[in-house]
Amino acid sequence: MALRVAVLRESMQGERRVALGPGHLPALLDAGFEIVVESGAGRGCGWSDEAYSDAGASLAPDRASLFRGARLVVAVRPPRIAELDGAERGTLLVSFLSPGAEEGLLPALADRGIDAAALERVPRTTRAQSMDALSSQATAAGYTAVLLGAARLSRFLPMLTTAAGTIRPATVLVLGAGVAGLQAIATARRLGARVQGYDIRAAAAEQVQSLGATFLHADLPGDAEVEGGYARALGESESERQLAFLAQHVARADLVITTAQIPGRPAPLLITRAMVEAMAPGSVIVDLASETGGNCELSRPGESTRHGGVSIEAPIHPASGPAQHASEMLGRNVTALLVHLRDGEGGLRFDPSDPIIDAVLTVRGGRRRSPGDPE
Ligand code: NAI
Repeated sequence: MALRVAVLRESMQGERRVALGPGHLPALLDAGFEIVVESGAGRGCGWSDEAYSDAGASLAPDRASLFRGARLVVAVRPPRIAELDGAERGTLLVSFLSPGAEEGLLPALADRGIDAAALERVPRTTRAQSMDALSSQATAAGYTAVLLGAARLSRFLPMLTTAAGTIRPATVLVLGAGVAGLQAIATARRLGARVQGYDIRAAAAEQVQSLGATFLHADLPGDAEVEGGYARALGESESERQLAFLAQHVARADLVITTAQIPGRPAPLLITRAMVEAMAPGSVIVDLASETGGNCELSRPGESTRHGGVSIEAPIHPASGPAQHASEMLGRNVTALLVHLRDGEGGLRFDPSDPIIDAVLTVRGGRRRSPGDPE
């Protein structure tokens, strides 16, 4: 029997992505899934209802018909609890469950007998690379951050030699050189800016330099890389030294893009109010970490603000900018995960001995679970 997958229309304002596009349907139909799409789900990406039905999906005009008989529900953002009214017990939700989840979402899912697989928990392993939604969306976010910043800036990014004079290139400083940061560096380089990158992981230096940017070496003791390639949180005195080091570079930058995150913790503070006040009027900060607390003391999630002459952008779904390509990539990740979850007998595999399933399965059988828990 085909496993029915319901594709939710995102409800959050400004969120234009969708978890699956029409282009993903052939692979899913071949793998034995049946797809039902909430009417209008692909509109933000330019994908009409007709495009989905031409690709083999059925359309649901409302949530009740969307959820009827669905074994899986796929979404981008963590849905609000009320949005899952009508989903049947035993349904598996596949979406990001953090950041930005409504308080109490996971216990509510457990109470309702809805299982959940968290996209942000896909392991960063070679085997799970095709499912790595964090990376695909960070790529889109890093790219968007540069375009957003460039559009706010009162200067050109590239050097221009014209009859009206020579324009010096702008300096772009990227703090945090993970997936989003490296994409921001690559994009700013393509636009001709002078680019500097900074991270507390020593391994990032080579990656930053390979993109033609300068790596800023802070004099901090030891490497801050922990298991899985993530960064650890800095202690108070390390953090103070870091801020003192960054202050001089932030003050000289035209555009600062911040992407620093510590998994499971608030984002580290990298730009204080005083540092913003030392920037030249007309400069811009784009804080990609605002939803987890922000790297800049003055950023407000989802808002564009100004402090003195400095613009501060804190987009909460920057990957929504290039929504169509971001959804193409996300849909490939979701497709790979769904195919991985399918067993050979027309059901779903909840096998905790599989490292990918163990990592993503966050609610199962009415209980929240952590990696390593028995099914
Ligand atoms: P992330 O989103 O968790 O953090 C972004 C960046 O912020 C990281 O590079 C981190 O080192 C940096 N950061 C944290 N605290 C900082 C501070 N106080 N100052 C400056 N920078 C700070 O990172 P993301 O992009 O998720 O990547 C995490 C790791 O996973 C990286 O080592 C990356 O290379 C690795 N990775 C591996 C993949 C694979 O093997 N398949 C795929 C994607 C990422």
